[in-house]
Amino acid sequence: MFGVGIIGVGRTANAHARAAAAQPDCAVVAVAEIDEPRGREFAQARGGIPWHSDFRDLCARPDVHAVVITVPNFLHAPAALAAIAAGKHVLCEKPLALTAAECTEVAVAARRAGVRVSVGHHYHHTGPTLAARAALASAELDLGPPVMAMDVWHKSFYDPPRRPPWFLDAAKGGGMWPMNGSHMVDRLMFTTGQRVVSVRARIGNPFWGLAATDAAHAFLTFDRGFTAAVAHAGWRDGVNRFETEFVCARGFLRVTDREVAVGRGRAYEALPVPAVDTFSSQFAEFHAACTAGGRLSAPAEWGGEVVAVLEAAEESSRTGAEVAVADVLRRAGAGD
Ligand SMILES: NC(=O)c1ccc[n+]([C@@H]2O[C@H](COP(=O)([O-])OP(=O)(O)OC[C@H]3O[C@@H](n4cnc5c(N)ncnc54)[C@H](O)[C@@H]3O)[C@@H](O)[C@H]2O)c1
Repeated sequence: MFGVGIIGVGRTANAHARAAAAQPDCAVVAVAEIDEPRGREFAQARGGIPWHSDFRDLCARPDVHAVVITVPNFLHAPAALAAIAAGKHVLCEKPLALTAAECTEVAVAARRAGVRVSVGHHYHHTGPTLAARAALASAELDLGPPVMAMDVWHKSFYDPPRRPPWFLDAAKGGGMWPMNGSHMVDRLMFTTGQRVVSVRARIGNPFWGLAATDAAHAFLTFDRGFTAAVAHAGWRDGVNRFETEFVCARGFLRVTDREVAVGRGRAYEALPVPAVDTFSSQFAEFHAACTAGGRLSAPAEWGGEVVAVLEAAEESSRTGAEVAVADVLRRAGAGD
């Protein structure tokens, strides 16, 4: 039996716990949560599994082989390092850590300990992203290389309607840029198979004036010449919008949260989108990596590269200069 411990049981933990429990030969065996009533309720709902207030105690349990980390962002690296030090595999929510340097620390520790780290970039397991990635690579569709993309995601800042205090504090990893910029950067990298080489960005808090970002506008240059403009607003008043349009050499590809369409001859034609149980697929990949050496699509190094792009964008916003991602990664000791 592959025993899974969940660290932090707020909004996101249930989807992971359900996915782990549904996997053959897997069970959620313990939980760590600083909010005692919340931790006890989660434990009770799973047959009275043990609850711990300190995640280090959960990591020390011999029946825990892997942990799922769903605590606020500033605790990702400390929790991951504690789990790795105890010899446990890690599935950590995104972003992997607050800085690229912390991501390197996690990646190096995991390599030394011989454990696997997967980052919860769950768009690798959604139907539209998988269909879009396949379409860009399809010889039959022959869209040609992507030339440019517009990636737009606007949503109410207060969706969900109540945000926990850490989300309103950038020092704790809160704000829309770490929360959703990590998805946008990851999706562009995963869908195109290209790496971001440089970033120019303006990121701030024009809508709410909180100590956390609510707006980001970034221009990303990728390693094979493709460029993407990313626009993300946590609006005060507006409408939700979620759409990426790739302009390729021989056609367009439009991707929304449920549809993928090829644009040619002045019209769009929908492509089939596979039905994917996202969190189950993500957990199955992690389980296979831990137990049978399977490949991870978002290992710690990938998560570190996403965080380096987020960091490069923040630096660009502060300095007004275009920032090379390789410089951020070098300073973070990645690749050492
Ligand atoms: N993949 C996705 O679509 C998605 C969606 C939302 C959130 N997330 C990620 O999930 C993570 C958690 O976000 P959330 O919205 O669930 O936050 P949340 O605030 O709802 O939940 C976090 C939980 O961690 C607990 N916690 C805090 N400190 C702890 C500690 N030291 N030990 C144990 N528990 C502790 C809190 O009490 C809370 O219950 C974040 O990293 C976020 O980026 C991912």
